[in-house]
Amino acid sequence: MTQDEMKQAVAEAAVERIRPLLDSDTIIGVGTGSTANLFIDALAGIKHLFAGAVASSEATAERLRSHGIDVYDLNSVDQLAVYVDGADEFDPHLHLVKGGGGALTREKIVAAVAKEFICIVDSTKKVDLLGEFPLPVEVIPMARSHVARELVRLGGQPVYREGFVTDNGNVILDVQDMEILDPKALEQQINNIVGVVTNGLFACRPADVVLMGTPDGVEVLHDTH
Ligand code: A5P
Repeated sequence: MTQDEMKQAVAEAAVERIRPLLDSDTIIGVGTGSTANLFIDALAGIKHLFAGAVASSEATAERLRSHGIDVYDLNSVDQLAVYVDGADEFDPHLHLVKGGGGALTREKIVAAVAKEFICIVDSTKKVDLLGEFPLPVEVIPMARSHVARELVRLGGQPVYREGFVTDNGNVILDVQDMEILDPKALEQQINNIVGVVTNGLFACRPADVVLMGTPDGVEVLHDTH
């Protein structure tokens, strides 16, 4: 099975998993990235079963609308039954690194509102220790150099993502060589740097379940530690 086939399998598994949660009032949160895109495409087949979606990026909103799925402003929504999104890395506690696509802040906001966070990945995303994938940090543009110096003090090597502006009008520093031994503590520490909007560690609010596509089928993973 190719990586794309594994992504397709988890996208379809996620649709089946959320189907019992849906009714005509249900609004779901939808993530960003190539796996989330396959989920959106699969979701289109059951769009008559729910009210609509909140998107974690402009790109996702556009794709949802292209399928005729209504997109809601998060401020007009009381609750989200579920949030479905991919990840760049996940560990055995279902802590994640996200933001490879640059949508980390809106993703973290939508995940915070959702009752359940279902993460959909292929098996290449599984790691014992987070940090091999450079950790994205969204930064207010005028604070870029200050935040970069502080990230160096924390032991990382920040690299400016050239030519990229987030949906919120900010920039991204991708932090290489960061030792992530305590993901929750580091998530909070980085978020405390003045000028940081948020970082791509999802440890304070990890996934509730990971659906992982493997060559042998989809595995359902919970935090067993
Ligand atoms: C987007 O900003 C990211 O957080 C994505 O969720 C992540 O990059 C996973 O993307 P893929 O499904 O394309 O690997």
